[in-house]
Amino acid sequence: MRSEFQLGITMKVSVGHLAIIMDGNGRWARLRGLPRTAGHKAGLNAVQGVMRACEPHQIRHLTLFAFSSENWRRPRKEVNLLMDLFVTTIKKELAELVKKNICLKFIGDIDAFELRLKQRIRQAEYETANNDGLHLNIAVNYGGRWDITQAAKKMAQRVQDGELQVDDINTDTFAGFLCLNEIPYPDLLIRTGGESRISNFLIWQLAYSELYFTDCLWPDFNADELAKAVDWYAGRQRRFGETPEQVSLGTGKSHA
Ligand code: IPE
Ligand code: IPE
Ligand code: MG
Repeated sequence: MRSEFQLGITMKVSVGHLAIIMDGNGRWARLRGLPRTAGHKAGLNAVQGVMRACEPHQIRHLTLFAFSSENWRRPRKEVNLLMDLFVTTIKKELAELVKKNICLKFIGDIDAFELRLKQRIRQAEYETANNDGLHLNIAVNYGGRWDITQAAKKMAQRVQDGELQVDDINTDTFAGFLCLNEIPYPDLLIRTGGESRISNFLIWQLAYSELYFTDCLWPDFNADELAKAVDWYAGRQRRFGETPEQVSLGTGKSHA
């Protein structure tokens, strides 16, 4: 269920769920003598390119980190521009997303946003809810620590209400309260922009994902860059704690 993965002579590797930390917009702009905001605008074109490029790789779920819970620390002008970009982009692209059969979902602490953005987000989710093409998850005001904390809070409430027993809490029940709990964990994480860190993205969900770091700045990321990352992924052996032999012979518990 988690991912389609087989090794051996009939090699079949697919990235069912791809997560991306889209980093490097500001540096892309600076290299061109442009304001950082121009980099964010250019980054939107890269998002469209990657969405188109998912289908040939049979990527079903795409989760993009667009704004972290720490990005509020940026200069107010940049934060405001990012909020405006979110509002105008959802408005401009919604009809196209519906047409392309894309199911859009936002993860993160949406309540912190101003009303017009919250409304756009809910409308976009509502209008694309029945689509069964690419499942696109956008992480906004998202932090992995926030995600784990909100899950713990929901779970504690259930216990307090007598609906859940403490003895029934385990990693599976806990995971059921996290964001993206209805889809497989990411198979592959790509981070553009040259940094080798997670920056508080899906810290629980990425526990066994393959991590691919590239110097390519996000606005330059395209179908060719995605193909490189997927090729790299195809060469990995995912062991989930087993030995290489167990995995290649298919005798380990994760194959049971
Ligand atoms: C990523 O690019 C976009 C967001 C975090 C919103 P950056 O804006 O972080 O670009 P760099 O890392 O400064 O180049
Ligand atoms: C991570 O990029 C967040 C997003 C891409 C939305 P940052 O640029 O905020 O990460 P740090 O600050 O370099 O770790
Ligand atoms: Mg950055």
